Amino acid sequence: MAFPPAFLDELTARNPIEDVVGQYVTLKRSGSNLFGLCPFHGEKTASFSVSPDKGIFYCFGCHKGGGVINFQMEIEGLSYPDAVRTLARRAGMEVPDDEQYQSRYRQQERLWALSKEAARFFNAQLYAPQGREGLAYAQKRGMPQSTLTKFGIGFAPDSWDTLTKAMLAKGYTEEELKESGLVSVSQKNGRIYDRFRNRLMFPIIDVRGNVIGFGGRVMDDSTPKYLNSPETIIFNKRKNLFALNLAKKSKLGYLILVEGYMDAVALHQYGFDCAVASLGTSLTEEHATLLSRYTEQVVLIYDGDQAGQNATQRAIPMLEKAGLQVKVLKMRDAKDPDEYLKKFGADRFRLLLEESSNRVEYQLNAILKKYDLSLDEERVRFIAEASEFIAGLGNAVQREIYGTRAAEAASISYDAIKIEINKAYKRLQAREKKKQEKIDLSPARNLQPKARSIRYDNMKSAMAEEEILAMILREPALLDGIANLREEMFSCPLLGRVFGQLKRRHAEGLEVALSVLEDLTPEEMSHMAGILQRQQGPVSEQALMDCVRTVQQEYQSGNVRSEDDLLLLRDKMKERKGIKA
Ligand code: GTP
Ligand code: MN
Repeated sequence: MAFPPAFLDELTARNPIEDVVGQYVTLKRSGSNLFGLCPFHGEKTASFSVSPDKGIFYCFGCHKGGGVINFQMEIEGLSYPDAVRTLARRAGMEVPDDEQYQSRYRQQERLWALSKEAARFFNAQLYAPQGREGLAYAQKRGMPQSTLTKFGIGFAPDSWDTLTKAMLAKGYTEEELKESGLVSVSQKNGRIYDRFRNRLMFPIIDVRGNVIGFGGRVMDDSTPKYLNSPETIIFNKRKNLFALNLAKKSKLGYLILVEGYMDAVALHQYGFDCAVASLGTSLTEEHATLLSRYTEQVVLIYDGDQAGQNATQRAIPMLEKAGLQVKVLKMRDAKDPDEYLKKFGADRFRLLLEESSNRVEYQLNAILKKYDLSLDEERVRFIAEASEFIAGLGNAVQREIYGTRAAEAASISYDAIKIEINKAYKRLQAREKKKQEKIDLSPARNLQPKARSIRYDNMKSAMAEEEILAMILREPALLDGIANLREEMFSCPLLGRVFGQLKRRHAEGLEVALSVLEDLTPEEMSHMAGILQRQQGPVSEQALMDCVRTVQQEYQSGNVRSEDDLLLLRDKMKERKGIKA
């Protein structure tokens, strides 16, 4: 994706990071940095920093960071070239021709156009004679015309080539039809045929409004009940959610996450226009991040069966990790939201929503259900497990509220369970303390990069390398004085690579800044931004020369000292002092 370096320089110069970030995050100045609430993870105190001088952002909470292009990529979920394109448009710049990129983008655009065309075709079929059965099925499922239109629902006729013929006639090629996943290829004769036949069709639309795939439902009991588009260059199930294109505009202030297309459709139809569904796959971290871009609170409604409950238990920590508040609605008296709404209506569903429990209640109930409380020994085991769980809750009020509830459930006094909870609490605290001591005792472990793919094998050298990079990024002229420092002397390949790039750019008279570096993964970019925000020591030639000397010495002595070696060293030292490790 080679955009000319001079173009990228101008692009970043004409898109000041504080302006671009400012479109999404409210920033307040503090010293030379600006701070705001991180858009990438939920938080209440501002640990998201933007440094206009350095042209970077960095979150001290979730450790995401990078330049303005990385920000654009992350916040809109764009690829590198798409982010560059967006920023170019923002600054009114022409994007220079890049063959490879242009051709891939053109290919994507063709598939978006084809998918939209197919959605229109399916929708029209619904009202044609050959779609009578489809329309009847939609009506049987309680979908009025307004719903069918809103979701662009359609019908794939019972034929092997109706769609194929229609799309070929519109000028799309067989190759494009294959790439879109709308057709399958016969193993016998290699000919293509319509993938979706005799099914009610749900178009899947991304947040930018592009049709990216389809889910098709049979109209009887045959299998598979739902057939989905395969993964294509425009359709990634891990990164998209059904109906998010509509739900993102909801004014309700939360999002509802359900399992089925039909559930999401029914919820919208009954006024809960904040519902989204995963695409027949289990929830991924990417889904959680995507959701956190549009809301702070998610209500999980999975089916009442065991599979649904397991999925709920999996989803809760994932959503919480993305900074989302999670509530869980347990379906009762109906299999799923679609069925519930049609049986009992919107008002009763709203009651259910209002009493939907937070995740603590939900998990306490899950523990409760495991035991038969009419048996003494099971009650004892319930109290033990519940106490352990309650002891882990963040604050004392919560521990008391749920302690009381657990006591009631097991019909014992609150005082009795309180003793158990306190014991569990003390055990937990002791364990935490031990863990913390271990971390404190191990500076090497603290300094190791947060990203697992980046490791410092020689900590002494790596610390000096970090300082060198921080200094030359702030004061590029310093590069003139350290011509004898070479990329391969760096103990950390990533830091060496960055140094090499900066050195070359400086020699060519290009801008020396983190934001213009290419070929860094988002993780690597975050790591670099973190270094720059942490290393705030004074910039001086003296300090720089000290660091350079350290790197050179470590390089010449061939020291590779890993974290494990440092831990060993620590233990040896303690042994010498007569302390038991
Ligand atoms: P209805 O029976 O039409 O009400 O559908 P539902 O949404 O209640 O379906 P269900 O709870 O059985 O499934 C939930 C979701 O799982 C569906 O919306 C699909 O995304 C997915 N799913 C269900 N059955 C299949 C299948 O046979 N194949 C695939 N790939 N996905 C399926
Ligand atoms: Mn259903």
